[in-house]
Amino acid sequence: SFPKNVGGVLSTYALTLEPRFDTVVERGAQALTAGRRWVVLDLRVPQGWLRYLRPLLVFLVRPFAVSLEVTKRQPWESIARHLDNTTYEEGYFGVIYISSGSATASIVGERPSPPEPSLELVLYQSLVRPQRFELVLEKGTEVGVSRFVPLLSGRAQVRTEAGSQRTDRWRRIVSEAAEQGASSEIALHAAICLMRIPQAQYILPALERVMPRTIVECGVGGNMGASTAVFLNYCEQSGAQLWSCDRNDPALTGARFAGWRGALWHFHQMDSVEFLKSDVVPKNPGLVFIDTIHSYDHTMKELAVAETMTDAILLDDAEYPGFRDGIDGNLADLSPMDKDDHGSSEPGGVKRALAEFLEAQEEWERIDVGHPNVALILRGTEETTS
Ligand SMILES: C[S@@+](CC[C@H](N)C(=O)[O-])C[C@H]1O[C@@H](n2cnc3c(N)ncnc32)[C@H](O)[C@@H]1O
Repeated sequence: SFPKNVGGVLSTYALTLEPRFDTVVERGAQALTAGRRWVVLDLRVPQGWLRYLRPLLVFLVRPFAVSLEVTKRQPWESIARHLDNTTYEEGYFGVIYISSGSATASIVGERPSPPEPSLELVLYQSLVRPQRFELVLEKGTEVGVSRFVPLLSGRAQVRTEAGSQRTDRWRRIVSEAAEQGASSEIALHAAICLMRIPQAQYILPALERVMPRTIVECGVGGNMGASTAVFLNYCEQSGAQLWSCDRNDPALTGARFAGWRGALWHFHQMDSVEFLKSDVVPKNPGLVFIDTIHSYDHTMKELAVAETMTDAILLDDAEYPGFRDGIDGNLADLSPMDKDDHGSSEPGGVKRALAEFLEAQEEWERIDVGHPNVALILRGTEETTS
């Protein structure tokens, strides 16, 4: 008997001596892993006039248990019978031969594939070192993760390569791993930066309250893009769309979400007030988000235009006393131009503008979303104003 999954069989000057050589070849062929080979090197009786020398040859090799009976055995025929892709070659005037063949896979039974998992397994994976992240994608897919959410956490490792190339690579890894057995559909969608900038998670209650179909975002924030990530995540799940502007290059945020450009996300590099007034944004957006220079003057201008186009405005950094003191580590992510802007804007610009706006516009009121810096203001419906 043979062990299972044999990687190859080599038999030299032995098979012919075994009376049950055909059974040996048959069982060995069953034990071989599909595609692996069996090679036999053995003696045989030569053909042609040399066959008359058979008694002499038998006499010469008698010490090796060779008899006339043995000379009638033809193991190469067993090789041809039980294996595929067979070869046969003779040498030394037909006195020796080499024969080989490979094992084929055979269907020994059929079983239905395992049912789709009843739970949808979502893995929020921080962007650790790329190699490790990709290993998580591969192994996670194999064990049935149906959705990966790449997470920009506090210590996430972000490379500056184009985001679309990276997500293409991720998708390739996931679909290759899925071929190994996982049956669920894999969706890769926007990285969420909530751990990096915890304040961004308070955008979610605002979205839940307003449920906008169209969102206009002023201030993407170069390498941060926390709000953009939250909005795109919402858009992907709800079918809404996002129009964003920043007067600076969207940098890493633009690269990270390049795959959503055109479909869910429409980015324009321009001033926020010009953007709100332009016809590149939808006429009556469900929500306008403001997170730009944070100066009193500019916020007043943004509010004045936003108020004419929507019933819901969300302002970030509404309570910061001023960026010179307040923005701390986040300044590292801002462009030199913005550092200047933030440095020169008067402290508490958004707070003052918001208070003044609410004072003057009685039909607007602020709704608590759980964080003092995230201000949702709604144009009062009868229900909210009464
Ligand atoms: C605080 S960051 C935005 C952060 C981003 N919303 C987030 O959650 O990560 C402010 C952004 O506003 C942009 N900005 C400043 N003044 C602007 C203006 N007048 N028009 C458009 N963008 C402006 C800056 O380039 C910067 O990227």
